[in-house]
Amino acid sequence: MPPVDHRRFEWNAELVARYNLAGPRYTSYPTAPQFHDGFDAAAYAEALTQSNQTQAPLSLYFHIPFCAKVCFYCGCNKIATGDTSRCGPYLERLFQEMDLITQQVDTQRSVEQLHWGGGTPTFLSHQQMRELMQATRERFNLRDDDQGDYSIEIDPREIEADTLPLLRELGFNRMSFGLQDLNPEVQKAVNRVQPRDMTEGALQQARELGFRSINLDLIYGLPHQTPETFADTVKQVIEMGPDRLSVFNYAHLPERFKPQRRINADDLPSPKNKLIILQQTIESLLQAGYVYIGMDHFAKPDDSLSIAQQEGRLHRNFQGYTTHSDCDLIAMGASSISQVGPTYAQNHHDTEGYEGRIAQGQLATLRGLRLNQDDLIRRAAINQLICHFSFDASTFGQTWGINAREYFAKEFQALKQHEQDGLLQLNGDQIQVTPAGRLLIRSICMVFDAYLDQEGLGRSFSRII
Ligand SMILES: C[S@@+](CC[C@H](N)C(=O)[O-])C[C@H]1O[C@@H](n2cnc3c(N)ncnc32)[C@H](O)[C@@H]1O
Ligand code: SF4
Repeated sequence: MPPVDHRRFEWNAELVARYNLAGPRYTSYPTAPQFHDGFDAAAYAEALTQSNQTQAPLSLYFHIPFCAKVCFYCGCNKIATGDTSRCGPYLERLFQEMDLITQQVDTQRSVEQLHWGGGTPTFLSHQQMRELMQATRERFNLRDDDQGDYSIEIDPREIEADTLPLLRELGFNRMSFGLQDLNPEVQKAVNRVQPRDMTEGALQQARELGFRSINLDLIYGLPHQTPETFADTVKQVIEMGPDRLSVFNYAHLPERFKPQRRINADDLPSPKNKLIILQQTIESLLQAGYVYIGMDHFAKPDDSLSIAQQEGRLHRNFQGYTTHSDCDLIAMGASSISQVGPTYAQNHHDTEGYEGRIAQGQLATLRGLRLNQDDLIRRAAINQLICHFSFDASTFGQTWGINAREYFAKEFQALKQHEQDGLLQLNGDQIQVTPAGRLLIRSICMVFDAYLDQEGLGRSFSRII
C-alpha cells in the first residue's frame, strides 16, 4: 500500500457535518467505560509480575493533581488549591506506591519514557521535584544518557527563572506547555491570563537548555473566540514555532466539570464558527509546514512523531500519540491509568481514596480490565488506523495468525458506506483513508469497536470535532 501523504488533507464540510458524532478518542481500547472493579489491586499486581517475562522497557507516569488556580474550561483531574502543604503527604504516597510497584516489577528494566502530568507538576517546590526524581532513580533504572523521552507538562505561569534549568538537570528533555489562546478577552473569560512573552520566553529558554519536541496546547471553542481572534492566535503560535502542537476541542459539560459552570454558554462560539475555526487552523498549520499527525496533533516534519508515522512506528496510548509502543506504562498517583501487558488498571480518582489505599500498604487500583484475544486484535486494528490511516488485512492477518479479511468481514461490509461517502477506499484486503476522512478517523475506528452502545455514546464521549 502506498505510504500516506502526510501533507494531503481535505476539508469536506458535508462529511464533517454527517460524521461529527459522539465517539471515543481511543487512547485505550477497550475504552475506559469497559473498566470494572472486578479487576483489582491483586489483578494489577499479577499483571505487573507477569510483565517481567517480556522484559519490555518501562514508561513511568506520575500524576501531580495540584494547580494554584483553576482554569474555568478545565476537564483534567486536578485540585485547585493555595495550600502547598498538601504536596508533602502526596509525595510520600507516591514514594510508597513506587515501593509497592517495585515489589512486583523487575527494576532492571530500562525506563525509556517518563512523564510528569497534572494538574501542574511545578506546583511542587524545587526541593520536592528533586526528591521525586531522586526517589524514582533509586527505585527504577532511569537512563542517564539523555536518550529516553523524559517529559513534563508546564504551565508557563507557574515557573521561576531557575525552574526549567532545574528540570533539565533532573533529566527531563521534552516538555509540553499549556497555552490555549492568546486573546486577552478569551484569557480573562477562562481565568487564565498568560501574555505571549511569558509563553515565548519559556519556550525560548527550554530550547536553549536543549529540550526537544517542545509541544504547545491550544483549545478551540472557548468563550469569545471568533474565527478572526483564533486565526491571530494561530499566526502568533506559528511565529513561536513549537515542534508539536495539540489543538483540543473544548467540550462544554458543566454538569460534569464544576469549573465550567463559570463559563457563560452564550459567550461560546456557535457550532458553525467552531468548524470554521478548526478548518482555518488546520489549513494555516499545514501551510506553515506542520504535518497533521491525526486527531488533535500536529508536528514539524523533522519531529520524532512525524518520522515515526512515516516509518509506520507510531502508537497511541493514554498520553496520546507515542513512539514507544513496546513499553509497559506504569502510572502512579490519583486517577492515573496503567497499561501493562494485556491489562489496564486505573487508580482511585480522588486523592483521599488514593492516599488512603496506599497508606494501608495496598496498590490503589480502583478498576481495570484484562483484554481478551478479540480485544487485543481490535486494539491493534484501531491503533493501525488511527496512527497510519491505512490497514492491510493480509499483513495484519500474518502478524496475528488470523484470516483478517474473514475476521473483520462485518466491518469491511459496514465500511462500504464510509467508502461511498468518500472517507476511505476499499481495495481487496486494504483500507486507505482518504484526505477527507483523516479528520473523521474516529468514526472509522468505531466500526471496529465491539463495545459501542449507540445510546450510551453521547453520555460517555464528546463529539469528534
Ligand atoms: C494538565 S493540562 C497542561 C498542564 C498545565 N496544567 C497547564 O494547564 O498548563 C493539559 C491540557 O489539557 C487541555 N484541556 C484541559 N481541559 C480541557 C477541556 N475541557 N477541553 C479541551 N482541552 C482541555 C489543555 O489544553 C491543557 O493544556
Ligand atoms: S488547564 Fe492546567 S492549570 Fe488550568 S486548571 Fe487545568 S490542569 Fe490546572
